[in-house]
Amino acid sequence: MKLWQGRFEEPTAKDADDFNDSLPFDKKLWREDITASVAHARMLGKCGIISAEESDGICGGLEAIYADIEAGNIEIKDAEDIHSFVENELVARIGDTGKKLHTARSRNDQVATDFRMYVRRSNDDVMAALKEIITSLTDKAESGLKYVMPGYTHLRKAQPMCAGHFFNAYAEMFMRDLDRFAAARKRMNVMPLGSGALAGTSYPIDRNMTATLLDFDRPCENSLDGVSDRDFVAEYAFNASMAMMHLSRLCEDIILYSAEEFGYFEIPDAYSTGSSIMPQKKNPDIPELMRGKTGRVYGHLMAILTTLKGIPLAYDKDLQEDKEGFFDAEKQIISCLKIMAELIDNMQLRGNRMKKAAEGDFACATDVADYLAKKGVPFRTAHEVTGRIVRWCIAENRTLQNMAIEEFQSFDEHFDIDICETVRAKNCAEARTSYGGASPKSVKENIRSLKKRLARYDD
Ligand code: ARG
Repeated sequence: MKLWQGRFEEPTAKDADDFNDSLPFDKKLWREDITASVAHARMLGKCGIISAEESDGICGGLEAIYADIEAGNIEIKDAEDIHSFVENELVARIGDTGKKLHTARSRNDQVATDFRMYVRRSNDDVMAALKEIITSLTDKAESGLKYVMPGYTHLRKAQPMCAGHFFNAYAEMFMRDLDRFAAARKRMNVMPLGSGALAGTSYPIDRNMTATLLDFDRPCENSLDGVSDRDFVAEYAFNASMAMMHLSRLCEDIILYSAEEFGYFEIPDAYSTGSSIMPQKKNPDIPELMRGKTGRVYGHLMAILTTLKGIPLAYDKDLQEDKEGFFDAEKQIISCLKIMAELIDNMQLRGNRMKKAAEGDFACATDVADYLAKKGVPFRTAHEVTGRIVRWCIAENRTLQNMAIEEFQSFDEHFDIDICETVRAKNCAEARTSYGGASPKSVKENIRSLKKRLARYDD
């Protein structure tokens, strides 16, 4: 039975119903819908808008429906949307009293409230998954303390760094994501229920009571905004897009660094795939797929922003389009974060390959220039001298590590015997003790700080 049948002589066409109905996807909101309805019914009873017995009867009926859905005793079907389903079911069970539930309420403030509660819970799930991945990354940073690896700019070897520095960099990104989801949660935790269809209601309702029952910080202050605000969906989609972008960059680095040419990381077998024709292959399908899924999460952000942009106040049916993209974005971001945390936990670091790479290709050249500059040679001159040394090494097929002290001295008299130690990749990394730098000492500091910031989110 439709909730609005009275006005119509003819039934809606079958194809119009199929087009209009949201039950196939909004049935996911059944918990929130029933919980919010119980709070509404309690408030109606407390405020004397319905009698205490009626309120109890409605709440008892709703709680029984909740238990039956949870137990799988009833199937959610044959209704326009989840709100109609629950109300029809209630009336079928407790009779005419059930028809009083919708007093002082509209589906407009109802769906805005249900969906906010759903997104709020999902926001908490993402935050939990972000905490997990940050922990996996700082743990991996800890095991990387003993290794040196090359850092890159322009995807060309730049300077050696402690391997832990790499993992902390991603932990910082996900920490910002965590902060963003936490900030969005605060903003979304405002209750639209009691806004009615758009203009509030003439019944003496107590919105603070329902807000408290439903764990909202407060009721919204403008009913027109209350029923039409979906900023929280767009914000979630943006925050998820940003986190997917960070994941995608991490995927790209892992794919690259696990390739034969680099060989710094070994992706666990459990998170790799093979080839149907090439027996030797170990493919990084999991990070590739994650990188690919980033595009579709960005798509959901564009979709919700575009849906919202031309909607006149207040509720319009366009807003029903807020859900499907969200449900997909939620599924992608949470599963990707969880799988990546597992992959990181089980990924091996190949210390020898990383060290060899960090010493090759003159990645220690900056340290040669810095060595001279610290002895009083102006940095620009030291840079030029080092450039000539590198050019000489390339021509002579030599490395900075196998140069003799006399050879260094033939370029500049400021070189002493300790230059031969200075150009060891490990020493180059260890020297970068500046705050936020790549030395093991600075990386340890960074881990400590990340853990402290993460602990602020413990409940
Ligand atoms: N299924 C609708 C939605 O998701 C519920 C609200 C319907 N309100 C209305 N005035 N038709 O937005």
